Amino acid sequence: MNLNLKNKNALVCGSTQGIGKATAIALANEGVNVTLVARNRDKLKQVLAELPNSENHHFIVADFTNPKDLREKIIKFIDENQGFHILVNNTGGPRSGDIVNASLDEFDHAFTMHLKCNHVLAQATVPFMKEAGFGRIINVISTSVKEPIPGLGVSNTIRGAVGNWSKTLSVELGAFGITVNNVLPGFTDTERLAEIIKIKANHEGTTIEKMTEIMKNYSPAKRFAQPEETANVITFLASEAASYVNGINVPVDGGRTKSL
Ligand SMILES: NC(=O)c1ccc[n+]([C@@H]2O[C@H](COP(=O)([O-])OP(=O)(O)OC[C@H]3O[C@@H](n4cnc5c(N)ncnc54)[C@H](OP(=O)(O)O)[C@@H]3O)[C@@H](O)[C@H]2O)c1
Repeated sequence: MNLNLKNKNALVCGSTQGIGKATAIALANEGVNVTLVARNRDKLKQVLAELPNSENHHFIVADFTNPKDLREKIIKFIDENQGFHILVNNTGGPRSGDIVNASLDEFDHAFTMHLKCNHVLAQATVPFMKEAGFGRIINVISTSVKEPIPGLGVSNTIRGAVGNWSKTLSVELGAFGITVNNVLPGFTDTERLAEIIKIKANHEGTTIEKMTEIMKNYSPAKRFAQPEETANVITFLASEAASYVNGINVPVDGGRTKSL
C-alpha cells in the first residue's frame, strides 16, 4: 500500500513523549515534514534530533493551557514557514479522580486543553488544507468516548465533547478533501499510564506491580499497547490511503472496549 505521505507537512502536538512522540517518528519515517509542539524546549530539541532527516523538521514551544498564545504561535509559524496537511491533536490527559469530587476549575482546565486548543489548531490549519485539497485532522482522545472509565470523571466528560466537536467538523470539511477522525487509545505504555497505575494502586491499597497485572488483564490482548502501535494507526489515517475514512472513532485498545 502506498501511503503517499512524502513531503506532506504535519503538526504533531504533545510530541515530546508517549503517543505524540511515536507519531512524530512514524510520520517522519514516511517522509513527512514534522513540526513538533509541546512545552519543554529541551525535550523538543531532543526529539527533533531523533527524527530521520532532522533538517526537514521544526518545533514550536507552546502551552495548551493558553489557547490564545497557541493560536498566535501557530499562525505566525504558518505565515513564516508552511501550512499543514496533517494535524494531530494531542496533549496531556486530565487529572484523574471521581467526578463527584471534581472542581469547576478542573473542568475548565480540561476543556481548554482539549477542546479549545483542538479548535484553535483546526481553525489555523484548515485554510491551507482547503487550498491543498487535502487535509487530515486526527484527534487522540480515549476509549472513554465510547465507555466512561471509572476514576477518570473529568476526562470522560471532556472526551465526549471532543468526540462530538470532531464529528461535527468532519461533516463540514468532508467536501474539501479533509477528513477528521479520532484515535482512542486503550492502556498504552507511556508516562501518563505509569502515573494512572500509581494513583489507582494507591487508591485500591495495592502495589504498582499488582495493579499493572490487573490492568493488563482488562484487555483481551492481556498486555498494554506500545505507543508505536497507536502511532501506526494515526499514520494510516493521515495517509492518502485513508481518503474515504471520515468522522469515525478508532479504538486502539487490544479489544478492551466492550461495545462496538
Ligand atoms: N497512555 C494511555 O494509556 C492513554 C489511554 C487513553 C488515552 N490517552 C490519552 O492520549 C493522550 C496522549 O497520551 P500519552 O500517554 O502519550 O501522554 P503523555 O506521555 O503524558 O504525553 C503527553 C504529551 O503532551 C505534552 N503536554 C502535556 N501537557 C501539555 C500542555 N499543557 N501544553 C502542551 N503540551 C503538553 C507533553 O509534553 P510537555 O510536557 O513537554 O509539554 C507530552 O509530550 C492524552 O490525552 C492521554 O490522556 C492515553
